[in-house]
Amino acid sequence: MDLKSQIKPEKLPSHIAIIMDGNGRWAKQHGKPRVFGHRNGVKAVRESTEAAAELGVKYLTLYAFSTENWKRPRLEIDALMKLLVETLSKEVNTLMKNDIKLRAIGDIKKLPPLTHKALLEGIERTKNNKRMTLILALNYSAKWDILQASQKLAQAFKDGLIDAEAFDEKTFSNALSTAGIPDPELLIRTSGEARLSNFLLWQLAYAELYFTPTFWPDFRKEQLYKAILDFQQRERRFGKISEQLVP
Ligand code: IPE
Ligand code: IPE
Ligand code: MG
Repeated sequence: MDLKSQIKPEKLPSHIAIIMDGNGRWAKQHGKPRVFGHRNGVKAVRESTEAAAELGVKYLTLYAFSTENWKRPRLEIDALMKLLVETLSKEVNTLMKNDIKLRAIGDIKKLPPLTHKALLEGIERTKNNKRMTLILALNYSAKWDILQASQKLAQAFKDGLIDAEAFDEKTFSNALSTAGIPDPELLIRTSGEARLSNFLLWQLAYAELYFTPTFWPDFRKEQLYKAILDFQQRERRFGKISEQLVP
């Protein structure tokens, strides 16, 4: 039986997050500059988006650029930002065809103007799409997210809009950039690294983590199916014991 048909629809994660890693090492393996790896990562983005939508996943979050990635060589950053503009402009038609809504998380105002513009245009054009939401994490870091949420809430508190007693988990979640989006049940990281690199720390509190040695440019639908099948084998206890879980 092929991998896709082994996936149980009733146990499908509604939100999958992916740390797309290994572009540089993939390029090196092919004797090419790092940018070649980023270019070849676009196909993997397309395939995982399509596969997730076909399966009925509701939210797919892709970590595309972290706040720490500004420390990379200027040339690589420029190439990445240019690639984002090109890809966004091209792929929005596919998103429209597939009824996928685009959303972004991160400090996107600080992106170069052309990248920011392409992103806002993509978000605007796809805003009424319903089948799945594709969330791009751009100039994102979890600590930034938690801090901006805290600042927003401190201000609201100061302005008398919220009171300390009413302050709960939901209030905080709604102040994060991911407001309204359920927490990811499954996190995938490619390239063999086993760390979160400042990604969605609050939102991943109870996510199942899946690490694969595959470099991002080699990631295809089959790899996504494998990750989901692995997820479906796990027992998610949320602090309880096995016997308390309803099958
Ligand atoms: C992930 O691949 C893409 C971005 C972080 C933008 P890398 O560029 O980190 O590739 P490696 O990890 O150096 O191989
Ligand atoms: C994490 O990958 C960020 C993205 C995938 C966008 P990095 O390659 O930047 O992370 P580190 O440096 O290995 O932690
Ligand atoms: Mg990396």
